[in-house]
Amino acid sequence: MHSHEVKWGTGQGGTPLNRERQRVSLVTLGEAAGLIVQPTMERTLIAVKSDGVQRGLTGDIISRFERRGFKLIGMRLVKPSEDLAKQHYIDLKDKPFYAGLCKFTSSGPFVAMCWEGQNIVKMSRDMLGETNPADSKPGTIRGDLCVQVGRNIIHGSDSLETAKKEVALWFKPEELVEWKSCMEPYQYE
Ligand code: RTP
Ligand code: MG
Repeated sequence: MHSHEVKWGTGQGGTPLNRERQRVSLVTLGEAAGLIVQPTMERTLIAVKSDGVQRGLTGDIISRFERRGFKLIGMRLVKPSEDLAKQHYIDLKDKPFYAGLCKFTSSGPFVAMCWEGQNIVKMSRDMLGETNPADSKPGTIRGDLCVQVGRNIIHGSDSLETAKKEVALWFKPEELVEWKSCMEPYQYE
């Protein structure tokens, strides 16, 4: 090797820290040049409502999100207070079904989950199906597992902005777990 050549990852520049710095600057250069597009990760609130928990569908629902390749970063089983339910559905406060919806939501076990993945807000809404199970296609959660709008078993945030608010409503920051999935290189290129 000639003296002016730098062999990648060797010598003084080859410490793990320096290698990581070199990798980061190459990625930054690649991004700036438009050669590398990093996946933009989103987080969303998915919840199995009390009808879903009572019917024993929590495992099926978790499994669908896992198999899709999304990452679970928070999970709590709660019996929400009526105030929390009202806060959760605040955007629907003028709807005639608001009071009944909040009462039902606070009536029993509720599994609040925070899931992470690229484009997860839209993709999870597609997995849920339509609000009314009768309009939901087979293959979707509501299209496969339930019948009526007032017993549609699952909640999913409907936009990135709502997702941020809802995750903050159900989880303290320390209840969300940052972890590296070993499957990531096989899900994202
Ligand atoms: P969610 O918030 O629970 O994920 O449901 P969604 O976005 O698909 O529907 P949304 O309009 O936010 O309604 C929230 C929940 O209210 C109940 N609902 N009942 N009786 C009715 O006409 C009616 N409409 C909505 C449903 O349980 C719906 O999931
Ligand atoms: Mg909604």
